[in-house]
Amino acid sequence: MELIIQENISLKPFHSFAMEVNARFFTRLSSMDQLPEIFAWKKSSSLVLGGGSNLLFTKNYDGLIIKNEMKGIHLIREDDHHVYVRAGAGEGWHSFVLHCINNGWAGMENLSLIPGTVGAAPIQNIGAYGVELKDIFFGLEAYHIKEEKLHQFSLNDCAFGYRDSIFKRSLKGELVITQVIFRLNKIPEYKITYGAIEQELEKMNIKELSIQAISQAVCRIRSSKLPDPAVMGNAGSFFKNPAVPENKYIELKEKFPGLVGYHQMDGSYKLAAGWLIEYCGWKGYRLDDAGCHALQSLVLVNYGHATGAEIFKLSEDIQRSVFEKFEVRLETEVNII
Ligand code: EPU
Repeated sequence: MELIIQENISLKPFHSFAMEVNARFFTRLSSMDQLPEIFAWKKSSSLVLGGGSNLLFTKNYDGLIIKNEMKGIHLIREDDHHVYVRAGAGEGWHSFVLHCINNGWAGMENLSLIPGTVGAAPIQNIGAYGVELKDIFFGLEAYHIKEEKLHQFSLNDCAFGYRDSIFKRSLKGELVITQVIFRLNKIPEYKITYGAIEQELEKMNIKELSIQAISQAVCRIRSSKLPDPAVMGNAGSFFKNPAVPENKYIELKEKFPGLVGYHQMDGSYKLAAGWLIEYCGWKGYRLDDAGCHALQSLVLVNYGHATGAEIFKLSEDIQRSVFEKFEVRLETEVNII
């Protein structure tokens, strides 16, 4: 396939914050055999883009954007309890989830309606409503740019953590994820105790649980408080929920009884960053077109013409005020470019 490199392309349609930023060079990756050619051409730095739903461009990108559009969904193996499904990195995450649900493959229903692509999902170990990608992950294949060859990664190789993996750390920028293999359940194990799922299922008058019903409940909850990126630019949670040691949690809880925190297996507490931000008065804040969402303060929004620099400045102001009030540092979840 002939390599097409475009120049000075607007990235507005390719990232969910929807800022007016340009890429110096832009190309689409749809098959494996393009990879060596793309990196042989490469005259500049490069960035692989999935759905663009977890990044903030603070300026024009002076390199090559590689839009990963590798497609394909295949059932590759099954046993009594599981199916193993391979999906191209460029498949849309939610459409892949729906495909699995429609085939009766369970395990992804709580991860419904997350923006982005299959290939980007392992990088930050996406998670929602008590399930993380690592719970259904079997392996992935990635092209190592410098070594010019494919590598296979098993679950253990990926060092998954809370919104974290080896692909954000030692292997950052080294790989292009080409396909991901999921291990899904033939017999569902419903997880409905997290957040408002149970309540939502009641509201929906669901008498018999199913992966379809859970998926619909999750979609309804997400739509009720998370802004649709097609309507209002955003990248989901802008910050991670910070973990603090138990003594710090107790100290804060005494001072701020409303504080929301969740006990973790390692003894620490994960604080609801949304609560910290709301307490500092940011919820619903807006300066020009950069704002903190009125229904979920962990989400920063572009009302139309905000620049990446304006959103970044707002994020720094929020981090500073949360630190001044609670002495807790908020780490960004979104990739700042
Ligand atoms: N809260 C507030 N004010 C707010 C927002 C939240 O007080 O403005 C408190 C509430 O007590 C609420 C609690 O925080 O009950 C938790 O809020 P929510 O259930 O909305 O979840 P979250 O911790 O803010 C995380 C993930 C989301 C994921 C949801 C549901 C992170 C950084 N974010 O948000 O993931 O959808 O849980 O599981 O862990 C994303 O990563 O982009 C994302 C949207």
